[in-house]
Amino acid sequence: MPKEHLSIEEIEDLGYYDFMGYMEVPFFNVGGAASIDRLAELCKIVEDTRVLNVGCGTGGNSCYLANRYGCTVVGIDIAEHMIEHARKRAEELGLTDRATFQVGDAYDLQFPDASFDAVITVFVSQFLDPGRAYPGFHRVLAPGGRLGINEMYRADEVPQEALPRVQEGEEVFREITELPFTLRSPTTWREVFRAAGFTDIEVEEHTNVGQTSASLGMVEEFGGWAKLAGTLWEMLVIALKSSKMRQRFGKISRGKRVLLRDKVASKYIGYILCAGRKP
Ligand SMILES: C[S@@+](CC[C@H](N)C(=O)[O-])C[C@H]1O[C@@H](n2cnc3c(N)ncnc32)[C@H](O)[C@@H]1O
Repeated sequence: MPKEHLSIEEIEDLGYYDFMGYMEVPFFNVGGAASIDRLAELCKIVEDTRVLNVGCGTGGNSCYLANRYGCTVVGIDIAEHMIEHARKRAEELGLTDRATFQVGDAYDLQFPDASFDAVITVFVSQFLDPGRAYPGFHRVLAPGGRLGINEMYRADEVPQEALPRVQEGEEVFREITELPFTLRSPTTWREVFRAAGFTDIEVEEHTNVGQTSASLGMVEEFGGWAKLAGTLWEMLVIALKSSKMRQRFGKISRGKRVLLRDKVASKYIGYILCAGRKP
């Protein structure tokens, strides 16, 4: 399926994630493949496990799981461009029997009760109000099923000197995505899972994650170097054509710099894996 061609004005009007979907940016996960494998382990994902991936983006993680574990994955996302490219990815990888995608909202799941063995979010719950979304995640899980998340988080205790940088990072991400973006602490996540009715809660924290090394490990899985180079080239052309897009790219780099590479803040920020069982 050839990529739909949009004019620069149409590109400027896309929401942040529709733009990322349009660019076919394959994944948004600072923990790399290792964090997805560990999430699969925590959620007991094996062959034929029925997985719902909420906020699946362009389907990188869904296809990775379906391919590596032989599970079936339904991915949903509110951004249409994401779903378009997720379907394309599944087709290209010959995974359409195990990885399917549809537009859908985390707050309004259109699935029967108990229809999945695992519900996962990867860099999505940080944009959600779990008090509103997690009851639905719980409802669609079969008893014994697991909710697992891989999200950015902040340490329980952030010293005074790091606090402004952490808050700045949150603010930049809210601005770029136009979504509520919250870094929650391990204690808060544990509490969120408990309040939503989950038991056997496991929490694993990873700080000081520079994005590059983990991401490099995923390049092949998600399309290869040629595709990555093509995407970067296309972004460069867009940046050259549009000052609005240059500003947007500038904000994205600032957010990443603050959240992931800032010497002070990055000690207190990272990704968290959290999983719980529906009794
Ligand atoms: C940072 S991306 C992560 C994408 C994907 N999970 C991955 O790891 O590649 C966040 C995704 O969440 C989606 N999203 C945000 N709010 C959502 C909601 N209420 N329901 C479904 N998807 C949502 C966005 O459209 C975006 O694709």
